[in-house]
Amino acid sequence: MPEDYVRIFDTTLRDGEQSPGAALRVSEKLEIARALERMGVDIIEAGFPISSPGDFEAVRAISAEIKDCIVCGLTRARKEDIDCAAEALKGARRPRIHTGLGASDNHIQYKLRTTREKALEQGVEAVRYARRYVEDVQYYAEDAGRADPDYLCRVIEAVIDAGATTVNIPDTTGYTMPEEWGALIRTLFERVPNIHKAVVSVHCHNDLGLATANALQGVRYGARQVECTINGIGERAGNTSLEEVVMALRTRRAHFGVETRIDPRHIYSISRLVSDLTGIVVQPNKAIVGRNAFAHSSGIHQDGILKDRSTYEIIDPRDIGVPESEIILSARSGRHGLRHRLEELGYVFKDAESFEPVYQRFLALADKKKTVSDRDLEAIVADQARIMSLDGYALELVQVSCGNHSMPTATVRLRTPEGTVKADAALGAGPVDAVYQAINRVIGVPNELIEFSIKAVTEGLDAIGEVTIRIRSDGQVFTGRGADTDIIVASAKAYMNALNRLIAIQREDRERALPSEEEARR
Ligand code: KIV
Ligand code: ZN
Repeated sequence: MPEDYVRIFDTTLRDGEQSPGAALRVSEKLEIARALERMGVDIIEAGFPISSPGDFEAVRAISAEIKDCIVCGLTRARKEDIDCAAEALKGARRPRIHTGLGASDNHIQYKLRTTREKALEQGVEAVRYARRYVEDVQYYAEDAGRADPDYLCRVIEAVIDAGATTVNIPDTTGYTMPEEWGALIRTLFERVPNIHKAVVSVHCHNDLGLATANALQGVRYGARQVECTINGIGERAGNTSLEEVVMALRTRRAHFGVETRIDPRHIYSISRLVSDLTGIVVQPNKAIVGRNAFAHSSGIHQDGILKDRSTYEIIDPRDIGVPESEIILSARSGRHGLRHRLEELGYVFKDAESFEPVYQRFLALADKKKTVSDRDLEAIVADQARIMSLDGYALELVQVSCGNHSMPTATVRLRTPEGTVKADAALGAGPVDAVYQAINRVIGVPNELIEFSIKAVTEGLDAIGEVTIRIRSDGQVFTGRGADTDIIVASAKAYMNALNRLIAIQREDRERALPSEEEARR
């Protein structure tokens, strides 16, 4: 009988990365994996190794470094996928292969073009084959939410007999209602004779906004693993959000009677990290991690909160690592004051060299704004991290001229990765377009701008503006972000960030696709 706690299976790096524009570099995936390990997740699904050289490398690198979590690789129910995942997971201390295929008639007929019996046999074979490599095999019955429960029970019994140690029941299309989902999980416990030999996992999508409700309903009926992502990112409307499940089980522990092993104090910082690296902005009213999750604006609510926080707050923001108080810094705060506050916010700098550019930007902002808030600091640190993490083109100067009687014109000066300085100028439909055209003249990577959004980090005319953009190249979408008090500069930085990511990811993919010298000689 598996131990009674809810295992957290984080799939931010696999299902989450399937969100359009969320492509991450291997180094970024490693950074997220380290943060997940610190937070105490049980299993990290690090990627789908056969899907791309980048995914293979991410699973390999995470397997080599992460020791406290099980590291998992996804496969289809095919030998070549399983061979590839086993190879990528070789260095893992606790490797898991996650294999499976469709269980609904819809998937069996239209996607797999096979029969129920053949699909069942293929799943059983895949589990047996994966067990040759690892002890820990998880089986997914894709689209279980729309499958015939009788058939699903047969599949689950057969794959457990074949050696699956976890059975994943996905609501792939986010179609199911919570009562139906609970009943399905209960059916498995009632009708699959060997069900207690495996951990039952739920993997719920959010197409009808029910992913968290369904996952929790699964737990009520016996599931002891929940698959989820940070900020709920994932295919289409996303996946179950990790922070919602963890905090629901914690806040309502008497109701559920079972908890996770997550240290929730990491939730806030990891939510920021994932949002910064994927470029997927967290909606302000998002439960637990949204900007407004702990903001009280109506007079009646503010009055209640001042009398006693419990009147309108069911979670203490400190429990998820939201910094305790809004300390306002000014130019006089000095290096020590800034560093201290940043540490309280969860940003630790390994040396003076990495801290200095942040301090200089803080001083420049404090000069303009007089007082600098925590949100400003978070924006500066995230922007600086973006600049430092990519060894690509650097923006040295941007200058625009525009107005109602002039043609928008921009001049840019960039430093190339090789260290040379190049400048160019262009006209555009507006000032941002002119800047982007000028940058294109220097960098020359064909792409299409598909999304542009801007938001103020804090209130007031002197606020930092944060620009998020998405560009498309060769069918792939890349996100870029930039922050500055000047929105044209923020826009230029966002474009440079997206282009540098595009260049780096496409280069890494090309390099991994190239045969090794030895292979080339063969
Ligand atoms: O949604 C789904 O069914 C999946 C499986 C591959 C587990 O992501
Ligand atoms: Zn999924």
